[in-house]
Amino acid sequence: MKTSLTKELEKYTGILEKQNKDSVSDPWRLKYHVMPPVGWLNDPNGLCFFNGRYHLFFQYSPSDAMGGLKYWGHYTGTDMIHWEYEGIALYPDMPYDCDGVYSGSALVEGDCVWLYYTGNVKLAGDYDYIYTGREGNTVLAVMRTDGTIGDKTLIMSNKDYPANLSCHVRDPKVWKESGLYYMVLGARTKEDHGEVLLYVSEDKFHWSLKNIFTISGFGYMWECPDMFVIDGRRFLSFSPQGIERDGLDFANIYQSGYCLLDGDFTGDASLGQFKEYDRGFDFYAPQTFLDRDGRRILIGWMGMPDCDYINPTVEKGWQHCMTVPRELTVKAGKIFQYPVRELEELRGGAVTKTQEQGESLDVSISSDVIIKIDDPENLHLCVDHDLHIVYKKADQIFKIEFAPGSPLGGGRTMRGVALESLEEIRILSDTSALEIYVNHGAEVFSTRFYPQIDGTGKDCHTIEFMEGSGFLTAWSLEEAN
Ligand code: FRU
Repeated sequence: MKTSLTKELEKYTGILEKQNKDSVSDPWRLKYHVMPPVGWLNDPNGLCFFNGRYHLFFQYSPSDAMGGLKYWGHYTGTDMIHWEYEGIALYPDMPYDCDGVYSGSALVEGDCVWLYYTGNVKLAGDYDYIYTGREGNTVLAVMRTDGTIGDKTLIMSNKDYPANLSCHVRDPKVWKESGLYYMVLGARTKEDHGEVLLYVSEDKFHWSLKNIFTISGFGYMWECPDMFVIDGRRFLSFSPQGIERDGLDFANIYQSGYCLLDGDFTGDASLGQFKEYDRGFDFYAPQTFLDRDGRRILIGWMGMPDCDYINPTVEKGWQHCMTVPRELTVKAGKIFQYPVRELEELRGGAVTKTQEQGESLDVSISSDVIIKIDDPENLHLCVDHDLHIVYKKADQIFKIEFAPGSPLGGGRTMRGVALESLEEIRILSDTSALEIYVNHGAEVFSTRFYPQIDGTGKDCHTIEFMEGSGFLTAWSLEEAN
């Protein structure tokens, strides 16, 4: 049943989206990365394959490019590359979600998608720092094959979570395993320790606490948890907040990564070392799901909360995007990420050549560039005269770095990772986004990037080989959006 408030919100957001569609002609609109129709986008939510289509829901603030009241926007498609916007799926229209339909996930079962999310409620007072001023309700909404979403059900509220927790409990990720339903929830204790809670249920409605995962001294809040198995290895994935930078590690304000989980996840289990998914400036709050072929796919938010950096698109009324879907594989306990093969459907004409030191090449603004490195010692590429991609064998560091004072960097400097050897780099470029995959996805750097800051746009990227050489194949990519 739609309330009058829902109908009012539908009308209002529909007008905003239409206005944007009619007015936005912006060179930074992306050609194949998912972006909001208007306003602000953050976390991917409810990723699933259902009824012949992939579903990508997302945290969406249509009224404010700097973020505001959160809804779930909804894209669908058949190949994870071409997405159609379906409109807003969930509105903050109930007393238990009135300050935001926060992040959550999808469980596909029978003829339904069971959508679990956090209903955010801000109470009077300081809802961030005093631990009583917020409700993090766990809510269920069910989507049918015709795309309609039925009434919402309140499943759990703060009084149901462990008593030592602050009011920060959110982001349910639900899956079915061995005939039972499991849910992980991100949490912050009253003593400011980040945790993941594991709940179990027999019927999807009644949940009981089964386990708690934490790492001593590792951040005050763990957001957006996920748990999955690849090749028999179980991983706990989460986005911790409050971790100090340590050299090249934990360089962004918040992190996203995973730990190998050994033992019984419902009982005696231990977490291995935390590894970061992505070393770029813009990556947070990823979610994974199983695609129609059983591949484990990850999509991350190419953005950062609480960041001094503001994308120039804000002036155009929108901000942020998603990474392309990445297939996850595991080698020696480490997760590798690589763009799903479906992306290759966008490939058009290719240029193939050996690039020598000192040479440069213009590639299409949306390109897929693979460089096999000849000289394993040193490589120094420069993209659009400003973003340096550097590997020095002697230092064993791979880094990306904006030229000092770079207008493209917007105050950003350097991000890097320790790397023993360099064999291959794959650069996915879009109008205002770069994803750099190192050694077949052993490391990834995702970064928003504005090659011509005056907003006039550019129809190519220039890749300059300042040091080293390599065999390069560059495909132009067709527009998918
Ligand atoms: C992560 C996050 C989630 C929350 C959502 C709100 O970016 O803070 O914990 O559910 O964003 O938009």
